[in-house]
Amino acid sequence: MTSLSRLTPPFAPGTVWLVGAGPGDPGLLTIHALNALAIADVIVYDALVEPNVLSYAREGAALEFAGKRGGKPSAVQRDICERLILLAREGKRVLRLKGGDPFIFGRGGEEALALAEAGIPFRIIPGVSSGLASLAIHGVPATMRKTNHAVILATGHPAPDSEIEWASLARTGAPIVLYMAVSSLPGIVSALLAGGLAGNTPALAVHGATTAKESVVEATLETLPKLAEEGLIRSPAIVAIGAIAAFRSTIANHLLEFGSEAAQ
Ligand SMILES: C[S@@+](CC[C@H](N)C(=O)[O-])C[C@H]1O[C@@H](n2cnc3c(N)ncnc32)[C@H](O)[C@@H]1O
Repeated sequence: MTSLSRLTPPFAPGTVWLVGAGPGDPGLLTIHALNALAIADVIVYDALVEPNVLSYAREGAALEFAGKRGGKPSAVQRDICERLILLAREGKRVLRLKGGDPFIFGRGGEEALALAEAGIPFRIIPGVSSGLASLAIHGVPATMRKTNHAVILATGHPAPDSEIEWASLARTGAPIVLYMAVSSLPGIVSALLAGGLAGNTPALAVHGATTAKESVVEATLETLPKLAEEGLIRSPAIVAIGAIAAFRSTIANHLLEFGSEAAQ
């Protein structure tokens, strides 16, 4: 039998790997991510990386938290980039582990840019993004022939001084998969209604997908803000809005529950 470790390229000292940890369940780690966990000297991880994923780290590896926790301010992005560069220059094998996919609303792009500018050799290992995993495990296809030919991934938390043209997104008719949007749902929903989306457009919210804290709420576009206000939709959550969300009621009928013991 081929050894799975042979599938992964060498993790050289003095390099950084920017790796997606998936939505939570270690079963959704890639083989490259798992092998990197077993080799890295230092693992710099974000708040949405589940402890049971970190449990696959090599014994003796240094674990450094670089996220937002308990209402405390986030680690400043510039400091994280500088830390990665410093650790690499010290000759460490640096694993930068981020929830989901590092390049989807994960600021992985900024870190890659900083490493490139600093001349640090690095590798990017994609991960399963929570936006797609949250839908799939609940029987919602992100694309369904004859239903949609495009899907929009959007953040509810744009960069300062940036605005999202929700009404324009609504007019495309493509389903919208929202990240980081729970606290902004009232404004987003009003703007989507103003853009012509019907109030009864199906919606689905998944909190803590593939983790022990997971909860799922079926909704419509217009009921989303109230459900969030009542605490039935909680962060971190993915909120999907569009006809695809309705497939859950039929597809999920005989869908086996997702999850491994390791996710608990
Ligand atoms: C900073 S973004 C990171 C997204 C990540 N890079 C990805 O590809 O999934 C954080 C947001 O991702 C979503 N998220 C991450 N993990 C999740 C999970 N297990 N279940 C539901 N939503 C999740 C939430 O919307 C959360 O606010």
